[in-house]
Amino acid sequence: MITIRTVDQLSISGSRVFYRVDYNVPLDDLTITDATRIEETLPTLRMMRERDAAIVIASHLGRPKGQRNEKFSLKPVRTRLAELIGSDVQWANDCVGADVEQKATQLKSGQLLLLENLRFHSEEEADDRGFAQQLRKLADFYVNDAFGASHRAHASIDALPRLFPTDHIAGGLLLAKEIEFLQKITNVSDRPFVALLGGAKIAGKIEPLEALVSLADTVLIGGGMANTFLAARGVKMGASLVDGESMEVAKRIPASKIVLPVDLVLQDSSIAEVSKGLRGDQKALDIGPKTIAEFDAVLERARTVFWNGPMGMFEKEEFAKGTMAMARAVAEADATTVVGGGESVEAVNVSGYADRITHISTGGGASLEFISGAKLPGIEVLRTS
Ligand code: 3PG
Repeated sequence: MITIRTVDQLSISGSRVFYRVDYNVPLDDLTITDATRIEETLPTLRMMRERDAAIVIASHLGRPKGQRNEKFSLKPVRTRLAELIGSDVQWANDCVGADVEQKATQLKSGQLLLLENLRFHSEEEADDRGFAQQLRKLADFYVNDAFGASHRAHASIDALPRLFPTDHIAGGLLLAKEIEFLQKITNVSDRPFVALLGGAKIAGKIEPLEALVSLADTVLIGGGMANTFLAARGVKMGASLVDGESMEVAKRIPASKIVLPVDLVLQDSSIAEVSKGLRGDQKALDIGPKTIAEFDAVLERARTVFWNGPMGMFEKEEFAKGTMAMARAVAEADATTVVGGGESVEAVNVSGYADRITHISTGGGASLEFISGAKLPGIEVLRTS
């Protein structure tokens, strides 16, 4: 059982708080296409303001690889956050340095200051102590709500909280909620436990996949991930996306608990039976109707469900049926349901069933790593037990 100190236990009144969030939101040019990660921080922000704290907000966005790059600026986030919280959000054009320190010092109780992208400095991803010491100058307390980045041993997640006294660091309300619900999945007591997995690649998901296969009663696999499993079992997958590097892993994972698609939707919207294999030019882009019915039946009996990854190319309407059907089946299951991962969360939001999911995780890789039993640096540093 993981327990962390939470923000409500800190004496932050009249003090400055360094608030690490994960505002790595999807952007279409300058437009935020899904603001869930910002919205989910509002309860912690409101609570800290009610307690008269001044708040220095820090995040990464994208992977600018240690270079300043306007494409990865947090400016669009500043605008959206100000709208959502209904007050001004001050801006610092960097995250360290004299100018930022001055802006932080001048903050009054209840005021917010958003710093520019932490990853404009390569020291952030290097977990650099010197960089963390510069960030440390900005506040007296440290609160982490960046669950989505808590699997990264980066300076603002790992080195920085170690520079504060332990009674000055805590997790925010979002981090606490993520831990609570994801722990329910790892200590699953309500069975059957069904994992529904999809998305393009297996690479990077191997350990979580193995952990889920041993934790769950049934693992339903769709999307590009299923293509790789089918190819590993000798099915001809034509021109479908297959993660060649992960074929060996797919072969290694015991077949007994895994359910794979029996039919697939091809690029011309026709249906192919998996048992017959695909021709060289054929490409699987969604799960077919028989597979939907099979997966539906398994989910209907589930008492706990974890879903990560879409069933196909759901961003195109003609290939969204499988993913949308799964969103509905997960929502209608008489079960504790947890959805994690950017694309599956987006799919659930588009489907209109989001309010019927028990917990929508803001973490993609982080939720998978948590479930696989990995120690997440951002959580470990805050643990009280
Ligand atoms: C995410 O979107 O999963 C987190 O923000 C972490 O981003 P990263 O994979 O670039 O570290």
